[in-house]
Amino acid sequence: MGAFTDFVVPDITTRKNLNLSHDEADFTLVQPWQRYSAQDHATWALLYQRQSHLLPGRVCDEFLQGLAQLGVSAEQVPDFDDLNQRLRMATGWQIVAVPGLIPDEVFFQHLAQRCFPVTWWLREPQQLDYLQEPDVFHDLFGHVPLLMNPVFADYLQAYGRGGMKAKSLGALPMLARLYWYTVEFGLIQTAQGLRIYGAGIVSSRTESVYCLQNSRPNRLGFNLARIMRTHYRIDTFQQSYFVIDSFQQLFDATAPDFAPLYAQLAQDTLLAADEIIATDCVWQQGDGG
Ligand code: PHE
Ligand code: FE
Repeated sequence: MGAFTDFVVPDITTRKNLNLSHDEADFTLVQPWQRYSAQDHATWALLYQRQSHLLPGRVCDEFLQGLAQLGVSAEQVPDFDDLNQRLRMATGWQIVAVPGLIPDEVFFQHLAQRCFPVTWWLREPQQLDYLQEPDVFHDLFGHVPLLMNPVFADYLQAYGRGGMKAKSLGALPMLARLYWYTVEFGLIQTAQGLRIYGAGIVSSRTESVYCLQNSRPNRLGFNLARIMRTHYRIDTFQQSYFVIDSFQQLFDATAPDFAPLYAQLAQDTLLAADEIIATDCVWQQGDGG
């Protein structure tokens, strides 16, 4: 998912990281590809198959295009170096292997350098549908295809640069909400209808259906200041989704200096995850059921 305070940074010396060391400064390691078992590859194939069955007609074209152009394997956990050749050529991004969630400032630094940290290990078969921390399926399948898109690629780098500043201004929670409601759980309006682009949805079998078809959640127009003051839930499906018109809209809306906005928003009260306010552009009001 990226970083942020809602997740406890796991003890990186335990679990699958046993006997693997990472770089002290940037938390990267060489993807230990030989460590994937036959079961890991079978799990990857199953997850890939389920999502590639569900996503056409639900996810935005840019995602499917990126997935195809990256050449992400449907059969086995991809080799990061292999993907990096195509990713670097397309947008100058690359992915680096990490042991799991990493400190905020390290995460931001990577993004600012067009480097996306990808957790190297894969979930166990008994956790197919839910796990508390991001694994390689979420990080790679969910996040990396859109990094093939030049505008989204620039947005994520700008986000990384903005991260350090937000931290120094004590505004990390506001910036984290922007990440949550765009990079993780964003929807986009297209000529063919509403589509998914958020990685947290794309990698989830259940939410990729729920976010578009269920009557419970709100679907609201993207509004930067509004999103920055909206709580989010990490323990259930989202209660509100925010809809952008285009990646260019997202990039342009977030280009100005956030410092004045942070100062202004510090006075405002936060909104509940399911709240609707008078100024909202309401695509669809959830029935909350
Ligand atoms: N414009 C933001 C700032 O000045 C940086 C940023 C860009 C943050 C894009 C998020 C996304 O802090
Ligand atoms: Fe993520």
